[in-house]
Amino acid sequence: MAALSVAGVVASTATANAAAGCRVSYQIANQWQGGFGANVTVTNLGDAISGGWTLEWDFAAGQTVQSGWNGEFSQSGTRVTVRNPSWSANLGTGASVTPGFNGSWTGSNPVPVQFRLNGTVCTGNVDTTTTTTTTTTTTTTTGDNPGGGPRVDNPYVGAGVYVNPQWSRQAAAEPGGSRIANQPTGVWLDRISAITGNGSPTTGSMGLSDHLDEAEKQRAARADGQLVFQFVVYNLPGRDCAALASNGELKADEIGRYKSEYIDKIAEIVSRPEYSKLRIVSVIEIDSLPNLVTNVSPRVTATPQCDTMKANGNYIDGVSYALGKLGAIGNVYNYIDAAHHGWIGWGDTNPQYDNFFASAKLFASVLGRNGATKDKVHGFITNTANYSPLEEPYWTVDDHVGGRPVKESAKWVDWNDFNGELGFATAFRTELVKQGFDSGIGMLIDTSRNGWGGQNRPTAKSTSTNPDTYIDESRIDRRFQKGNWCNQSGAGLGERPKAAPKPNIDAYVWIKPPGESDGSSTYIPNDEGKGFDRMCDPTYGGNARNGYNMSGALPDAPLSGHWFSAQFQELMRNAYPAL
Ligand code: BGC
Repeated sequence: MAALSVAGVVASTATANAAAGCRVSYQIANQWQGGFGANVTVTNLGDAISGGWTLEWDFAAGQTVQSGWNGEFSQSGTRVTVRNPSWSANLGTGASVTPGFNGSWTGSNPVPVQFRLNGTVCTGNVDTTTTTTTTTTTTTTTGDNPGGGPRVDNPYVGAGVYVNPQWSRQAAAEPGGSRIANQPTGVWLDRISAITGNGSPTTGSMGLSDHLDEAEKQRAARADGQLVFQFVVYNLPGRDCAALASNGELKADEIGRYKSEYIDKIAEIVSRPEYSKLRIVSVIEIDSLPNLVTNVSPRVTATPQCDTMKANGNYIDGVSYALGKLGAIGNVYNYIDAAHHGWIGWGDTNPQYDNFFASAKLFASVLGRNGATKDKVHGFITNTANYSPLEEPYWTVDDHVGGRPVKESAKWVDWNDFNGELGFATAFRTELVKQGFDSGIGMLIDTSRNGWGGQNRPTAKSTSTNPDTYIDESRIDRRFQKGNWCNQSGAGLGERPKAAPKPNIDAYVWIKPPGESDGSSTYIPNDEGKGFDRMCDPTYGGNARNGYNMSGALPDAPLSGHWFSAQFQELMRNAYPAL
């Protein structure tokens, strides 16, 4: 295991091995003045433990735990005690768990020298190393996940993430682009020919095995020997049923081709032994399943295409097939797309207004089909290719203004239960577990375009007593409406990709590569199946799905997936945190 490589901050690792008993890898994932975040992987090397485990250590320099996850943390003096969460009381021989926490420190932050699991000391006669560096450094001891399994709890911890050379080249060719060209982004398999390469004007000439070969090189070049490769499975029959900009090549009934010419081919390549050391994150089918809740009859937002996909069952069939096939590969981590708060952030007991609970239920309906058992779903991803911020710093949905709750009186809020992706992802995770997903699932959030910095970013809460004015002056999300999704004007890059930024959030990721268009502003003939969606036309006054607001799209955009320099520049300009 190894520490996350973080430029310019302290990265520390302590590894303690015992012949029998337990092994602990304590990783400081990031550290700043006064604070730090750490993950503590403990592997049981002794007899299987059932009925609960306890991990203990002492801090040597007065550090304190502020909040923890994947375990119940308590501290008394220097002694930290982590007890198993209720959902994870057993620890088989060879099994590991990774509780993590955010803590505070002053003066210095040395790593603890001794750990105990159920009273047994994990240090031993084998090997104890402590490494502290103050540069862009990665430290390493043992690789914990060779040969394609077992899966680790959070694949992003202690690993680098694949930098796609094609995207990187395009980014670097832009003025100022070298500032972000070394960031990891998703590889989109948005058509059958993208698997072999050469067939795709958007994904370029590298096929899946070319990317994996390159990823394997990037992995082998790392001191910690761990790399996440992120790719997007995006080719369902009748794709993008509520929009036209990303309609795909497969017709609504071509589920057979989806399985045999697309998923089976991907699975064959990904499962090759030469890629077994990679941690392969597959993002499953953006913007698909929630359509079957929100954009079907009798709702006013229904489209005939979504009604068709609900009736023929091919979204559910396809998603479960992808999960089953890819999830059977030991080093693949499936994350299902779970929309974003501006789409399904409404929970209601009245089914007419409920998107939240119904979506979680719908997701759970894939379980048990086509081999998609719950152990094949590692987590979910929100906000892919969308613009919803992580948090709104200046207002909450529970605010009252002029004596009225903003939730029901401000048009922007419109009864939504959330105002950002962190709150939404956390709550949706809980609901997904209730509906039958594994209690250990983690969330990813795409932060590639949700920064909302730049000149128009508010710097304080509004003092208005009018609910609409109050929200409009306070919100950092500058869209006309939350349903707007195409090339949003004013948007900026969000948080840079980062492992384990918050409890239950496995990573912030850039799945939609900045600079790739969401859709063309006018009709452009093409052979990719892409339609023209007026939500990408800046002169369009909207439809039922965005409450008849202006689209907010940038002008002169190319087809979805194609390079859009003006958008790339705008995202850099409005980045938050700034570049
Ligand atoms: C497009 C895909 C593209 C992806 C990433 C989608 O909107 O439809 O063709 O690969 O974005 O840019």
